[in-house]
Amino acid sequence: MKQHTRPYRWPAPLPGHTPHIWYGADYNPDQWPESVWDDDIRLMRQAGVNIVSLAIFSWAAIETDDGVFDFDWLDRVIAKLYDAGIAVDLASATASPPMWLTRKHPEILWTDERGETVWPGARQHWRPTSPVFRRYALRLCEAMAEHYKDNPAIVAWHVNNEYGCHNHFDYSDDAMRAFQRWCRHRYGTIDALNKAWGNMFWAQRLNSFDEIIPPRFVGEGNFTNPGRLLDFKRFSSDALKSFFIAERDTLARITPDIPLTTNFMVSAPGASLLDYDDWGREVDFVANDHYFTPGDAHIDELAYSASLVDGIARKRPWFLMEQSTSAVNWRPVNPRKEPGQLIRDSLLHLAMGADAICFFQWRQSNAGAEKFHSSMVPIAGEHTQVFRDVCTLGSMLGALTDEGLLGSTVRQAPAAIIYDADSQWASEHTATPNQKVRHWTEPLDWFSALADHGINADVLPVRAPWDGYDTVIVPCVYLFSEEMAHRLRSFVKRGGHAIVTYYSAIADEQDHLFPGGWPGLLHDVAGVRVEEHCPLTDLYPGALDHLDLSNGTTAHDLADVITGVEDGTRVLATFTAPEHTGMNGLPAITVHPYGEGALAYVGGKLGKDGIATSLPEILDALGIAYTRTGTGDLLRVVRTHSDGTTFEFTFNRSRDMTVDAELHGEPVAASYAETTGDGTASLKPNGVVVTAHRP
Ligand code: GAL
Repeated sequence: MKQHTRPYRWPAPLPGHTPHIWYGADYNPDQWPESVWDDDIRLMRQAGVNIVSLAIFSWAAIETDDGVFDFDWLDRVIAKLYDAGIAVDLASATASPPMWLTRKHPEILWTDERGETVWPGARQHWRPTSPVFRRYALRLCEAMAEHYKDNPAIVAWHVNNEYGCHNHFDYSDDAMRAFQRWCRHRYGTIDALNKAWGNMFWAQRLNSFDEIIPPRFVGEGNFTNPGRLLDFKRFSSDALKSFFIAERDTLARITPDIPLTTNFMVSAPGASLLDYDDWGREVDFVANDHYFTPGDAHIDELAYSASLVDGIARKRPWFLMEQSTSAVNWRPVNPRKEPGQLIRDSLLHLAMGADAICFFQWRQSNAGAEKFHSSMVPIAGEHTQVFRDVCTLGSMLGALTDEGLLGSTVRQAPAAIIYDADSQWASEHTATPNQKVRHWTEPLDWFSALADHGINADVLPVRAPWDGYDTVIVPCVYLFSEEMAHRLRSFVKRGGHAIVTYYSAIADEQDHLFPGGWPGLLHDVAGVRVEEHCPLTDLYPGALDHLDLSNGTTAHDLADVITGVEDGTRVLATFTAPEHTGMNGLPAITVHPYGEGALAYVGGKLGKDGIATSLPEILDALGIAYTRTGTGDLLRVVRTHSDGTTFEFTFNRSRDMTVDAELHGEPVAASYAETTGDGTASLKPNGVVVTAHRP
């Protein structure tokens, strides 16, 4: 298992201040005349803001021309913040290069898969593999660090911003050369690479590493080599990471005592762009940006992503760097948050292990590409519900700090759900049994279905230690290594309970399909053998547009053709289908005892509701005791302290009902909820109560 390369370090309070849950936002004072700054600070104090991320997009204002630096304005605003007791998470300012740089060096711009070069005009228009860009960016890092090394206001470095948000894939010649080096390092010989990529297929055999090109445009409707594509995704994460490390190390050399981070986007848009679990080893503390999913999935998706961040942080406190107070402006339609959601969402991140709650951004822009994006201070001003909620949240975080929440950690859940970035990337290829089947949504369905039964799960990156859980869920973990198979087998043998779904253990780490049926490497422990996939599609109305299961649930998109069932395997549900489909009566859900434990196999995409319906029987058959501990209307998360104090966060998870809850401990914060004094509370939709219990 890979180790962290840096010790965990959390931003320390300003001199003379005590530790506090960090609360604040991205602050872009350079978008406003200086006359607005004093008003900003007045309102920040009113809201209880104690930290801002500064200068993220300020390169053009700091280095106004090649080598010409102007720190005066930044010094002035930092001094004002410091005097007001507001700490600074200072950016390296390298996220968006200025026009003078791209005019002088257009070769730093990234290129798309058709060889088109992007133009400046938005942001992040640089390629991480450009030596020229690296030189300029590192010079800026150095200048920033030298200028601010003794400034007591700076409590953390915010290195760059959301790496890969816009420049995730670059297909330029710089990228090509770097990809060649990366491949040489990974494979050593071109024969090994030819084998890994399956290059004998379609005459793709290469004679040398110099012949490697990134997966550039191969023609509409054509299919690029999946092995190369998967490695290009791995390379792209590594190329950005190596750029991050160069920036980080430049800053750290000059300011070794200032902790550093960069903001991840663990669930945006819909799946991880980068291998954040790998990146998590390279930061001093993990920081994440999260934007809510409008609609029914809102609360569950937030809890799921935040739990994954907690897993990446290995349960050490993490920093919510960005979220929105209300609407974003980058979806086709941008719903606002409902009353109560600003506070509820923030407390849910906190429940899931965040010790810092920040927003994008402090004051809503009146110009530029994000002028319709909500902020802590809306364009409508301070006399708004959003700003009142921002102030209420500030006092709640103050109260929770006083109660001692800081530094407590999220109590381990009984179940772990595995997330694997590689499996997501591989399952995105365009030549698959059904394009509707990916990795990312399946863990979320399991998280929600368990929550319907009041069962909590921790979402864990595949590399994290999940072996100490009672149950581990392996949802569409498409790629499987020998090591993972070994871990799972020993886990079950020792008495663990595993649930493995369809589309798991389909291929090895190079995306070579396992021979002999699926789940590959796991036949003995799974007790079933899948011979073929049965994609479900509207092309077969009334027959294979879906498959019914004998337990009353329905599979969509994909079902497994399970033809082999080992002795001792219990079939919990079968498919029911017209005879001519060949699926009638085949096993759909099975449980197989193995060693001291057991493994349940779920051979189709049941969706959240189908999983929830099937769960009690699966859990019973696995011999799991914690079935149905709640109704699903409440989501409860507990943070515990080493001194035995526990903080229980109780959320109304229902969409639109008022829900009563029994409380454990003294109420210390509540929103859209009334506590009755007799140990219960009534939670309105979007309501939350936090209680503290001391030993
Ligand atoms: C993030 C980004 C911010 C802002 C925000 C808007 O991706 O880091 O700068 O653009 O989205 O939602």
